[in-house]
Amino acid sequence: MSAFTPILRSSFLYLSRQPTLRRWVETSSAAGRFTKRFIAGLTLDDALRVAQKLYRERTLTTLDHLGENVTVLSEARAARDDYLGALNRLAELGIGATVSVKLTALGLDLSEQSCFDNLAALVDRADAMGSRVEMDMEDSTYTDRTLRMVHAMHERHPNSVRAVIQAYLYRSGQDVDSLCATGIPVRLCKGAYQEPSDVAYPAKKDVDANYARLLDTLLERGTHPAIGTHDTKMVARAIASIKRLGLGSDAFEFQMLYGVGRDLQRRLLSQGYALRLYVPYGTAWYPYFMRRLAERPANVAFIAKNLIG
Ligand code: FDA
Repeated sequence: MSAFTPILRSSFLYLSRQPTLRRWVETSSAAGRFTKRFIAGLTLDDALRVAQKLYRERTLTTLDHLGENVTVLSEARAARDDYLGALNRLAELGIGATVSVKLTALGLDLSEQSCFDNLAALVDRADAMGSRVEMDMEDSTYTDRTLRMVHAMHERHPNSVRAVIQAYLYRSGQDVDSLCATGIPVRLCKGAYQEPSDVAYPAKKDVDANYARLLDTLLERGTHPAIGTHDTKMVARAIASIKRLGLGSDAFEFQMLYGVGRDLQRRLLSQGYALRLYVPYGTAWYPYFMRRLAERPANVAFIAKNLIG
C-alpha cells in the first residue's frame, strides 16, 4: 500500500461529510456519467431492472435506497415508505432479494422510538414475504444502538434480519460471539468510515488479520454468514475453510458491492457459490459514492475517463 493511500482515504471520507459539496455534486447534470459504475440509478425501477438482470445471471441482490442521516422525521417516514414499496415490488418479482437499510435513514439521529417503529414496519413486511432486512452498520457512534435494534428485531421475527460487523473495530470479536450465540446472521465487512484509533485498528494489516479471525468464527459457529469483501485473499481463505468444514452451498453467501470486483464475482459464480450484490439507488448518492472512492483512490481515474470520454 502506498504511503499516500491512508491520507487519500481520510481526505475522501472528510469530503463525504461536507453538505455544501454534497448539494452541488448531487444536482450536477454530469452526475449520472460518473456514478453509473457504483449506483444502479435514481429510481426504484432502475434498481429493479438491475436486480432482474443480475438474477438472470444467477446473482442475488440486496437493494439500498440511498439517503443516510435524515434531518426531519418526515424524511425518515418517506424512506420507510420507499422501502415498503421496494419490498412489495420484490415480492411480486420473486427474485430472492433483500433490502439493506441504514438506521440514520429511518431517523436514528432524531428519535430512537420513531426509528424503531419505521424499522419494525420493514421487518414485519420482509418477514411476511420471506425476505430479510440487512441492517447496515454506520460509524462507531451508532454501533450499540444498531446492535440493540438488531437483537430486538430478531426477537420479533427470527431470520428476518441480518447484522453487519466491521472487522476494523476492536469490539467486533465480542459482538460476533453474541450474534453467533443468538443465531443472528451476520454480514462481515472491513468497515468504511473514518474511526479514531482508540476504537478501530488504524493499520490495514491489522484489520485484515481481524477479518480473517472473525471469518473463521462465523463459518464455524455463525448462522448463514455473508462474506462481504472483494479481497481475493479473504475469499480464498473463506473457500478453504468452507471446504475444511464441509459446509453446503446454502450455509453461507458471498456479498459484494455493485460495480466492484467484477472478475472475482464472475469467478465465484462459475464455481457455483451463492453471490449477492449490494445495489444502491436513489438521488442521495454522494456519501456512498465518496466512500467507494476512499476505498480505492484509483477509482478517480476511472471517473475522470468517463467524464472526458
Ligand atoms: P479491501 O479494501 O482490502 O479491498 C480489496 C480489493 O478489492 C482492492 O484491492 C480492490 O481491488 C477491490 N476494491 C475494494 N473496494 C473497492 C472499490 N471501492 N472500488 C474498486 N475496487 C475496490 N461497510 C460498512 O462500514 N458498513 C456496512 O454496512 C457495509 N456494507 C457492505 C456490504 C457489502 C456487500 C460489502 C461488500 C461491503 C460493505 N461495506 C460496509 C464496505 C466495506 O466495509 C469495505 O469498505 C469495502 O468492502 C472494501 O473492503 P474489501 O473487503 O473489499 O477489502
